[in-house]
Amino acid sequence: MVNINVKGCASFVDGGKYCKYVGEKALEAFDVLVSGNGAGNDFLGWRHLPSEMPEEILSGCEAVRDGWKAMGVDLVVAIGIGGSYLGAKCVIEALSHCFAKQLSRKDAAEVVFAGNNLSEEYISELMDLVRERNVACVVISKSGTTTEPAVAFRIVKQYLEETYGKAGAAARIVAVTDARKGALKTLSTQEGYRTFVVPDDVGGRFSVLTPVGLIPIAAAGFDIRALVAGACTEERALAERSSENPAVVYASMRNLLYSELGKKVEIMVTYNPKLQYLGEWWKQLYGESEGKDGKGIFPASVTNTADLHSMGQFIQEGERIMFETVVTVLNSSRSVVIGSDLQNLDGLNFLAGKHVEYCNTMAKIGTQLAHIDGGVPQIEVCIDRVDEACIGALLYFFEFACGISAYMLGVNPFNQPGVEAYKKNMFALLDKPGYEAASKAIRERL
Ligand code: PA5
Repeated sequence: MVNINVKGCASFVDGGKYCKYVGEKALEAFDVLVSGNGAGNDFLGWRHLPSEMPEEILSGCEAVRDGWKAMGVDLVVAIGIGGSYLGAKCVIEALSHCFAKQLSRKDAAEVVFAGNNLSEEYISELMDLVRERNVACVVISKSGTTTEPAVAFRIVKQYLEETYGKAGAAARIVAVTDARKGALKTLSTQEGYRTFVVPDDVGGRFSVLTPVGLIPIAAAGFDIRALVAGACTEERALAERSSENPAVVYASMRNLLYSELGKKVEIMVTYNPKLQYLGEWWKQLYGESEGKDGKGIFPASVTNTADLHSMGQFIQEGERIMFETVVTVLNSSRSVVIGSDLQNLDGLNFLAGKHVEYCNTMAKIGTQLAHIDGGVPQIEVCIDRVDEACIGALLYFFEFACGISAYMLGVNPFNQPGVEAYKKNMFALLDKPGYEAASKAIRERL
């Protein structure tokens, strides 16, 4: 379901070297991934999530959606950060009507996100919205100890208890967390929240196809069965050990561009604003999986054609350290044809009768050729359309390729030790009990 095209790299890359990268490095990394012998191999549960999805997970997520619907819930606050947020946000943005908020017809609850920042304005303004609506909440934290979601949850929980009573609030709250440990697990057990488990062997950024992603996506009215089915088709397609395997091709090419040509920045390019959060999800996936031990390709993203008018100059002529991965959607689900105008004052009659998406495609092809001329290699990843099945396939494709790619780079794809550094300083500055010595030391640096 996901196809890859690396012709846009041909003028940059030596064919012999590419074969070496595929044959010696990528297939070796593929073997490490599928045999489960590599670093971080206790976090490979995501690999078979689509094909081994328990029916009770799907029906459980749907039951949460239906229960909230029966209560008349029209706003779901999904609380989480990083991998406990970006997958759901990416899928919901991709599948939602661009103007869902403004349209009067509502088929499902609106899902808004919290706990992904510590902005007082954001949480205060969220509560302005919450006070106007019939609200439920899903709080998601694999570790159950992350500060940002815990702060947001404390505030939302207090409001729900004041408004609906303790039992009423508990009926509206669902927790997704570790099976055994963490403050959220303890709290959920004590308060009697309906709880879903993030499997021990699935890390946050690989968890979109667990209740972490599936509950908010179902609550927003999307078909989680079709999403998982699309991912399942992709899981099967990528299982073949082959130099033609699209994930092997993607991992090979990006590693070659990085190691041999010094292309240290990869820009994900989309031509549909609905896919902006695909870029955000992908940046976390690749950034946290590969950026360690002094190595890694820096993942960035642009949404064209808008960003051609902001970042286009740099990409065309700035520092030559980047390549692009263009996510192409082959078919638009809507149809708008540009009309003819009698006066033709804007000079656009040459476009009359053409679909807007045709112009978008010409902009894309023109940009790719210009960027090749400017020294920016082009990888293209294609899906058929923006629907549940294709998005599910795309998510699985990038996850699987990420595992191969990080092993090619020689890093553990599944840990994120660097994320702790800011937390230690923040806790010291916030005078968290147990951090007394660190608090004293850090204040001396200010
Ligand atoms: O990918 C990861 O593991 C991280 O980005 C986590 O998802 C993120 O830090 C949130 O962690 P948690 O779900 O434990 O609150």
